[in-house]
Amino acid sequence: MVLRWGIIGTGRIAGVFAEDLLTTPSGSLDAVASRSRENAEKFAHRYHIQKAYASYPELLEDPEVDAVYISTPHPHHAEWAIRAAHAGKHILCEKPIGMNTQEAEQIIEAADTNGVFLMEAFMYRCHPQIQKMIDLIREGAIGQVRFIRATFSFTDDFDEEHRALDPALGGGGILDVGCYCTSVSRLIAGVATGQEIAEPIELTGEACIGKSSRVDEYAFAQVRFPGEILAHLATGVRLEMEDEVSVYGTGGRLFLPSPWLPGKEGRIPSIVLLRSGQQVPEIMRIDAPGQLYALEADVVAANIANRQASFPSMTWEDTLGNMRMLDRWLEAVGMSYPPS
Ligand SMILES: NC(=O)c1ccc[n+]([C@@H]2O[C@H](COP(=O)([O-])OP(=O)(O)OC[C@H]3O[C@@H](n4cnc5c(N)ncnc54)[C@H](OP(=O)(O)O)[C@@H]3O)[C@@H](O)[C@H]2O)c1
Repeated sequence: MVLRWGIIGTGRIAGVFAEDLLTTPSGSLDAVASRSRENAEKFAHRYHIQKAYASYPELLEDPEVDAVYISTPHPHHAEWAIRAAHAGKHILCEKPIGMNTQEAEQIIEAADTNGVFLMEAFMYRCHPQIQKMIDLIREGAIGQVRFIRATFSFTDDFDEEHRALDPALGGGGILDVGCYCTSVSRLIAGVATGQEIAEPIELTGEACIGKSSRVDEYAFAQVRFPGEILAHLATGVRLEMEDEVSVYGTGGRLFLPSPWLPGKEGRIPSIVLLRSGQQVPEIMRIDAPGQLYALEADVVAANIANRQASFPSMTWEDTLGNMRMLDRWLEAVGMSYPPS
């Protein structure tokens, strides 16, 4: 069955998702909804979409839409994901799925009650590079994992109204891209201790909260996981650091040069492995069968009957654990948001 998709919100990532969705046979892009008719029509024209709705509820009422991709700013995820679930739509919701654990629980409950599929859109988990990293750790290629370093940050010439710098739109690094670092650290620590996901025992952190933005412009966390595994996570929306996932073990180390957006804009999916005693690292290139966001749409289509994805893509339990860790990181740095 070809999944008939509708997109909610016409911002930056909606365009990237639309472009990739058009490349996969697992789905068709049939509808888009915006708060404005003009934006809906512009977006529909650009991506050859038949139906352009001037409000989100109109798209949810369309019986010919099977699944929705929610790409609004994070404080609006819960409302539209819950409404989509009640409308019987399968849901791919952008990360973070909500502003906090409570919202995540409400969204999952709505999906569960209404019998629809739900996944938080961590696209990097759908790329074979992550499965390869898991296999290497499980095989003991770097011995016992001791330390994880994960960084995702960016900066831009944002105007002060940009969502990344606006607390009312969920601005700040920890929620925006720190969520990738928490999610990968939980996965690595989990796999390294014979499970799929591990939860942190201790977490401390620091952030610089902007005087005018009032959001965490850059931040780090120090984490202790079970199995004597430590992690350092760094993030930011006003500081460019090198994107990185590095894993250090008793028998070597591995490094993902393009951990978050493999294959996008010239980023080469690969793992650099240096076993203890080796002078020269092995560089493994891991190409995917499709575009990054198309892989994510394929995971949705393949798992509709199960209502959630399977590891290493985001399961509901994984989403809840990740939100709990984000709550802790925000609390550790004294960052809070107005009620959404
Ligand atoms: N997975 C990824 O690679 C990735 C990358 C970037 C962002 N994201 C996530 O995707 C979400 C959107 O990010 P983005 O960068 O695409 O944001 P964006 O460019 O600001 O677009 C957000 C869109 O949401 C809609 N919207 C609904 N209520 C809004 C409000 N009150 N204020 C502003 N816009 C509102 C707007 O569409 P209409 O005007 O058409 O209604 C807007 O264009 C975020 O949660 C972010 O974390 C994911």
